[in-house]
Amino acid sequence: MIAPKLITLENSIVNAMSELGDSHNAINMAAGYTDFHCSPRLIELVQKHISEGINEFAPANGVLQLREKLARKIEELYGHKYNPETEITITAGATQAIFTTITALVREGDEVVIFEPAYDSYVPAIEINGGKPVYVPLKAPDFHIDWGEVQKLITSNTRMIIINTPHNPTGKVFSELDMLRLQKIINGTRIVVLSDEIFEHIVFNGESHQSVAMYPKLAERSIIISSFGETYHVSGWQIGYCAGPADVMNELRKVQQVMMQSVSSPFQWALSEFLDFREEYLQLSDYYRKKRDLFNELMTATRFKPILSHGTFFQLFSYEGITDESDKDFAIRLVKEAGVTTIPVSAFYHEKSKKHLLRFNFARTDEHLQMVADRLSAY
Ligand SMILES: Cc1ncc(COP(=O)(O)O)c(C=O)c1O
Repeated sequence: MIAPKLITLENSIVNAMSELGDSHNAINMAAGYTDFHCSPRLIELVQKHISEGINEFAPANGVLQLREKLARKIEELYGHKYNPETEITITAGATQAIFTTITALVREGDEVVIFEPAYDSYVPAIEINGGKPVYVPLKAPDFHIDWGEVQKLITSNTRMIIINTPHNPTGKVFSELDMLRLQKIINGTRIVVLSDEIFEHIVFNGESHQSVAMYPKLAERSIIISSFGETYHVSGWQIGYCAGPADVMNELRKVQQVMMQSVSSPFQWALSEFLDFREEYLQLSDYYRKKRDLFNELMTATRFKPILSHGTFFQLFSYEGITDESDKDFAIRLVKEAGVTTIPVSAFYHEKSKKHLLRFNFARTDEHLQMVADRLSAY
């Protein structure tokens, strides 16, 4: 028999709920994809590069023109200049970038601070590399961070802090103060920050995205991870990137080199040209704010209570006034009875205590949002 390396890992909650939902023909408010078509211009660019013969391996660290465009974009938006030759690498989505970064940096016995609820690829990546996750709960109802608590958990073994802003699943957006506290905590340590910023272009309520790139002392000790999937409605292409200081990037690249040859070349060329159309990412916050507001408005016909999302296309709802069932049991019941698939938020915690919260992905058509509210009004 094989002794498993990832002893506690189950099928990802998104896959498990989506499979259950599909078997009941339910509306999928769980999966992380968006219901919208990507720009026809982007499709044309991919087709152009494929027909022109850009079908062989791309350079291992990514097409240079794409890295140059990303360097320019990051500098324009966040003020930090990354060297495209040595400080930006194209990856097969953010998931691979996360695994690569953790594998390159975390050794046996290293501690990694993560905030719960947490996106579910962080902990397995830490554990398979012999690291130890150190959990800090985001504090309800606004999911704020007690930075004093974080400070107390820092030891000489702390190798990494993982942040995610805007945050999946809560929709929390880090403030300037959060970033300054983080910067202070890592000052003078060997800690590297993994900053998962894949929802950087979806921020509401007049707030703005806080990238580690905006804080010079953070930028010099952080790896930013982002992805084109969520921004351009092309999650199935699985193309992302990371940006960070050259010495750390060099270590990441060694790991990437043995994981894969390169990321799909025609798609990289197409994305590099598509980045010229700035409105494609600059209008996203407005687009999703309207969706969020519409969904929350429709849901007032139900007894589900929103915890207002500040960013991402996720919205949490409390069902505290409806039932005392666990969120997993209730989510399964909603699939079977109401034909609506959601994610139980307890799945994003290492201890599965009762949370009474469900995550909804509102990147769906208005018709689907209406149908979901109608179906849930029976509860
Ligand atoms: C917080 C977070 N990080 C990373 C990812 C993975 O992104 P990708 O699809 O580019 O692998 C997701 C996907 O939903 C996510 O929510």
